[in-house]
Amino acid sequence: MRSILTRRLAVLGLAAAALAGPASAQGYPERPITMIVPFAPGGPTDVIARLVAETMSRSLGQQVVIENVAGAGGTTGITRASQATPDGYTIMMGHMGTHGAAPALFKGLKYDPAKSFDPIGLAAGTPIVIVAKNNFDAPDLKTFLEAVKSGGAKINQAHAGVGSVSHSTGILFNSIVGAKPTLVVYRGTGPALNDMMAGQVDFMTDQIVNVAPQITGGTIKAYAIATPERSPALPNVPTTKEAGLPGYEVSAWNAVFAPKGLPKDVAAKLDAALAKALEDDNTKKRILELGGTVPTQAERGPAALQKLVESEVARWTPVLRAAVDGSQ
Ligand code: MLT
Repeated sequence: MRSILTRRLAVLGLAAAALAGPASAQGYPERPITMIVPFAPGGPTDVIARLVAETMSRSLGQQVVIENVAGAGGTTGITRASQATPDGYTIMMGHMGTHGAAPALFKGLKYDPAKSFDPIGLAAGTPIVIVAKNNFDAPDLKTFLEAVKSGGAKINQAHAGVGSVSHSTGILFNSIVGAKPTLVVYRGTGPALNDMMAGQVDFMTDQIVNVAPQITGGTIKAYAIATPERSPALPNVPTTKEAGLPGYEVSAWNAVFAPKGLPKDVAAKLDAALAKALEDDNTKKRILELGGTVPTQAERGPAALQKLVESEVARWTPVLRAAVDGSQ
């Protein structure tokens, strides 16, 4: 008698669990969440990630813990994140490089930016600035371009690996200018910036949120910002158009993704937490102070991010392939 009752209770228990859906989705999040940052600490991706993670932690009620997984232009970390269990406990901070430029530049990419992820939302826009070590012998952009072009391989250009923002915007710059500098790879533009402040590397094209404090502090110099208008965070830095390189206008962006297959209510909680972060006054203030842009309502959320990824891959692929072909 007892064994029949036990078996029936077991069947009922299984049925209840099946009806309730994955237990983690019901109480999600029940433990800390890992946000993979695919570059070294201290760089632009890390800065934006830590900013939004702090506010997301508060609204989710669990710590969003940053894990820096650098290498291969950010594709090592993004590949790992794409293969994680889609349960909401592993998310990532990607960007225009990892989810836009990489397919054009990275042979054998192990993920598809438009298919391997559940997009959560855009976190920040990050205009590109042309920056150099303080003692680079050129007073303005025009003389800088002449020096970089005539200097050839003697000039060192920093980047964060094939397909990264600094790499893709850097080879675009080189192809427009007709320069062929020596490319020096770093695990992120945080370490690259340290070397630039020490005068160890000549220049790079980097995201404003990484370099704005150093430009303002006078430890590196900026020749131009590659946006149609000047940045309120760097009012004295001319646009590329003003300074004599009108054909070079490029901005990057940082965005939160999860591996494909999230339970719907888990995705909804992550979407809501990121949306709250972008409404948080301190988060918005910090992004703007660093020269970043806060996504508009229309730019926020998963659908807008999916469209952005698809359009960025389509935009960058021919441009970068031509830049690479042209430089050979
Ligand atoms: C970083 O966070 O180090 C940068 O995003 C690297 C890059 O994409 O240039």
